[in-house]
Amino acid sequence: MADPKSQSACPTAPVENPVESSSAAPIEADDTAHFSDYDDDGSSQASSTQSLSSSIKEQFYENGRKYHRKTVDEGHKYLLPSDETELDRLDMTHHMALVILDGELHKAPIKGDPHNVLDCGTGTGIWALDFGSIHPGSHVIGVDLAPNQPSWTYPNVVFENDDLEKEWTYKKNHFDFIHSRMVGSAIKDWSKYTKQMFDHAAPGAYVEISEHSMKHIYCDDGSVPEDSVFYAYGNNLSDALLTLGVDVRQFSGSFFKRHLEEAGFVDVQVFTYKVPWGTWPKSKKFKYMGAVCAEILKTGFEAYGLMAMTRLLNIPEDEARGICNGCYKEIMAGKQHGYHYQWYVIGRKPELATK
Ligand SMILES: C[S@@+](CC[C@H](N)C(=O)[O-])C[C@H]1O[C@@H](n2cnc3c(N)ncnc32)[C@H](O)[C@@H]1O
Repeated sequence: MADPKSQSACPTAPVENPVESSSAAPIEADDTAHFSDYDDDGSSQASSTQSLSSSIKEQFYENGRKYHRKTVDEGHKYLLPSDETELDRLDMTHHMALVILDGELHKAPIKGDPHNVLDCGTGTGIWALDFGSIHPGSHVIGVDLAPNQPSWTYPNVVFENDDLEKEWTYKKNHFDFIHSRMVGSAIKDWSKYTKQMFDHAAPGAYVEISEHSMKHIYCDDGSVPEDSVFYAYGNNLSDALLTLGVDVRQFSGSFFKRHLEEAGFVDVQVFTYKVPWGTWPKSKKFKYMGAVCAEILKTGFEAYGLMAMTRLLNIPEDEARGICNGCYKEIMAGKQHGYHYQWYVIGRKPELATK
C-alpha cells in the first residue's frame, strides 16, 4: 500500500485558465456546519434489489457489489460496479454536473441542434437523453461498454455497446458535437482517444471532455493532515489504476487541453471548478454541492476503490473497505475541508481540417 505521507499535505493546486470566478477564490469554511444541514437517513446505502434476468451470466458479485464480466473480467477495462446503487450514483453525478454548470448540460457554445452527437461512456444515458430532449433536431448516440442504458428511449437518442478504446467504426468527419464525461478511470491512451474524437468530428464541431481529479484531494486552509485517509485512498486508487496502464496522476486541465490540441482541435479552453467534499463550506452553493458530493461519495469511494484495491493491489477486502468507510466518515465529520477539481475542456475542429 502506498505511503500516504509521501504526499505533501493538502495541495492547493493552481487553478488553470480561464477560471470561473466561482472557482478561483478559496472556499470559506462554515465553522458551525453540521451534517444535519443536509441530513442523511442512511437509506441509500449500497444494496441491490434488481431481480434476476436472462443476462445474469454476464454479471457476477464480488465484495457485495454486482459487476459486468464484460467490463471487469474481460481485461479489467472498467472496475466500477453495475448495480442499482451505482446507476443511482451516476444519476446523482449528473445532478452534480448540472449544479456545477448552473443547469447547463455542457460548456461548449452549441448553437441550435447539432445534427449528429456522440456521448462517450454514456453510463445510464442520462446526459444523452437530456440533450436529446432539449435538441429534438439532433440525433444522439450514447455509447458504453456496459449495457446499463434504458431500453426505452426518445426517437432521436440511441444507445450502443462498444469499446471506445478500439477503432471507432463511425464515419469520419461525422459528429457535430462529441461529449465525454467521467471516463477517466478507464481510458489508457488519451492520445488515441482524442485523435479518434478528432477524426470522427465534423469540421467546425465541438468536443467537450469533463473529468475530475482522482489521486489528489485539495484544500485551501491546511485542514487535511498529511496522514489523512483521503491520501491513503487517492494513492491506492491511482497505484491500482496504473497497473492497468491508466494514469490518473497526470490529470489536470492542462493535461486534457494538451491532448485536444495535439489531436488537432483549436480554441481549446479549460473551465475549472472546485467541488467540496461535505457541507463544510460557508457559501450556500458550495454547501449544497458538498452535500450532493457526500451523497455521491457515500457509495463512490467503494465504487471506484474496492475492486481496484482488492484485485489489483491484493489489499484484503476488510482493509480496502476500511479505507473507503474511513473517507466517508471523515467527510461526515466535516473537519477536513477537502475538495476535488472538475475540469471542462472544450475544443473545436477547424473548418478546413482535411481529416
Ligand atoms: C463514471 S461512468 C460516467 C457515465 C456518464 N458519462 C456520466 O457522466 O453520467 C463511466 C462510464 O464509462 C464506461 N466506459 C468505461 N470504459 C469504456 C470504454 N472503453 N468504452 C466505452 N465505455 C466505457 C463505463 O461502462 C461507465 O458507464
